[in-house]
Amino acid sequence: MSGPVLYLDGVSVVFDGFRALNALSLTIDAGELRAIIGPNGAGKTTMMDVITGKTRPTAGTVRFHEHDLTKLDEATIANLGIGRKFQKPTVFDALTVFENLELALKAPRGPIACLRWVLSGESRRRIEATLDEIGLTARAHDRAGLLSHGQRQWLEIGMLLMQDPELLLVDEPVAGMTDQETEHTAALLVRIAGRRSVVVVEHDLEFVRALGSKVTVLCEGAMLSEGSIDHVQNDPKVIDVYLGR
Ligand SMILES: Nc1ncnc2c1ncn2[C@@H]1O[C@H](COP(=O)(O)OP(=O)(O)O)[C@@H](O)[C@H]1O
Ligand SMILES: [Mg+2]
Repeated sequence: MSGPVLYLDGVSVVFDGFRALNALSLTIDAGELRAIIGPNGAGKTTMMDVITGKTRPTAGTVRFHEHDLTKLDEATIANLGIGRKFQKPTVFDALTVFENLELALKAPRGPIACLRWVLSGESRRRIEATLDEIGLTARAHDRAGLLSHGQRQWLEIGMLLMQDPELLLVDEPVAGMTDQETEHTAALLVRIAGRRSVVVVEHDLEFVRALGSKVTVLCEGAMLSEGSIDHVQNDPKVIDVYLGR
């Protein structure tokens, strides 16, 4: 896969005179894994809100393939194949890991398979493939309430994968995780990208380094620096406003 799937150009968001995004331009390629870092209030979450249709930009272009996302509502954008993981997991504790994935398959974006007995061989194979991808095969028949914090996050990512998004947005996935869970999450996101594009916002620089991806540094709603983790960590502009603090 190649070529851009997501294209932002000159995007500004103004809240009561405050510029949360200031002429931000950004391109994400098909199959790309991209890390977005930046100080608190840099506009990272606002950028995701603009992509998912939660917030309308005051100015600028936001395109996903040929679709103008500034004209579409959140549900329509989700249906185009943009999935978003929020910080707070929304898994069902009383259901098993398998059942949570099964439910995600039946959610609006999935094929119509309303009745339990319709769970086809193909659906079952997709759930099993996802269990394998998120590393929870051994926990498939445990209730989600028994999972660790990290495992719940992976299940949530798995639930998003059941909708087969072409672009996955992940906001601060490793907050509260152990070092081992953080490493596992980096490996998981690397695995997931390639077949789809993944944009991950994160503060943890060790984690971003483990992703091995291109990094975009946001500051005051605009792009400050872009390149490898080594490039941005050595960029005097970045050291000045962010890393040097
Ligand atoms: N709905 C809103 N109304 C007013 N200000 C907002 C709103 N959403 C975000 N902001 C402000 O925009 C700035 C960027 O916020 P945000 O995108 O959440 O930053 P980040 O995720 O990088 O920490 C912050 O100063 C925040 O207070
Ligand atoms: Mg944020």
